[in-house]
Parts: sequence; structure tokens; C-alpha cells
Amino acid sequence: MNHELPDAAAREREPTEANVRALVETFYRRVDDDPLLGPIFARALAGRWDEHLATMTTFWSSLVLGSKQYRGNVQEAHRPIDDVEPRHFARWLSLFLSTVESRYEPAAAVQFMEPALRIAQSLQLSKFGWDYQIPVEQQELLAALKRQRTGGAPEPRFPERPDAEPFPAKFIGKSADEQ
Ligand code: HEM
Repeated sequence: MNHELPDAAAREREPTEANVRALVETFYRRVDDDPLLGPIFARALAGRWDEHLATMTTFWSSLVLGSKQYRGNVQEAHRPIDDVEPRHFARWLSLFLSTVESRYEPAAAVQFMEPALRIAQSLQLSKFGWDYQIPVEQQELLAALKRQRTGGAPEPRFPERPDAEPFPAKFIGKSADEQ
């Protein structure tokens, strides 16, 4: 059996401290092996990989287990990394999402994927400028994950109404004696 990427039957139903640590280790092994991301992390983390893995385990545990142990500043941590381009974020997300997907059942996977995409968005905006257009795939994926997390419930919308009748028309735009 492949212990790195469990098959569908072996996917975790819920995050636990042990499987969060295993997720972090697997993900950063893939990052380290990746020709695009590997060199960036190697430069930034020379001799500090163990510390980084411990920080990231605490970070994800705080998010998905509510352990509240993480005391860092994600934006500040990325500020010194200046050799990052949009394609690096795309690769980071692709590796992270596929690692999560292979290890957790969908309901648990969403708990990692949604914050990862949100944080990736804010990191991209601060790196590339506030008018940077977040790639459409990322926006769509985030919207789909949000729908999945809320049980597929549609976004709040106006009350049911006949198709041809724009909602406000019934209530505004008519004088009191027409009503
Ligand atoms: C191109 C994409 C990314 C690159 C190259 C990158 C790189 C790095 C590096 C090198 C560090 C270590 C900083 C240091 O200790 O000196 C770090 C820390 C961190 N990264 Fe990223 N990162 C990326 C995207 C993300 C995303 C999308 C998330 C969202 C979850 C994230 C979350 C974190 C966190 C929580 C830390 C620890 C911050 C701390 O020290 O408190 N990173 N990242």
C-alpha cells in the first residue's frame, strides 16, 4: 500500500493532530521536490525546514482543530520572499489542493482548501498589487468550495417571484393609489 497518498477508501473523515502533521509533511515533501517551488523554499528556509514544518502543523491545527496555538503573521512571513510570481501561487495551490484531496474525504478537505485559497488570494493581492486580477479558476474554485461547505445551499436571494417580474417593481415605482 502507498502510505503517502492513501486511496479513496483510506481517506480521513476528520482532521486530527496526527493526520494534520502527516498532511504538512507530505505537502512540503512535494514542494521540496518541485522544480518551480523547491528552490524558493530552499533559499528561504535553509537549515530551518524542521521549524517550518512545526509552524505549519500548528497553523493548520489552529485553523481546522481550533487549537488556537498559532501566533504568527502570515503576511509578514511572506514579505521577504520577493522572487514569487503568479505561477508559483498556481503551483502551490495545485500541489496543496491535490495533496489534501488525496488524504481527506470531501467534507474534511474543504476545511483546508477554503482557507488556503483565501489566504493565497490575500497574499497575491499584497504581492502583485490590489488591482491584481485573481485567476478565474481560483475564484471559481473558492465559490464552489463555499457552496460545498454550506451543503450546496444556494446563495441568499430574493424571495421567489414570477420570472417576468423584477423583484422591486411590485413594491416601488407605483403610486400609493395604484397599489
Ligand atoms: C507561492 C506561494 C507560496 C510560497 C513561495 C510560500 C513560501 C513560504 C516560505 C518560504 C515560508 C517560510 C518563511 C520563513 O519562515 O522565513 C512560508 C511560511 C508560511 N506560509 Fe507560505 N508560501 C506560499 C503560499 C502560502 C499560502 C497560499 C499559504 C496559505 C495557507 C501559506 C501559509 C504560510 C504560513 C502560515 C507560513 C508560516 C508563517 C509564520 O512563520 O508564522 N503560504 N511560506
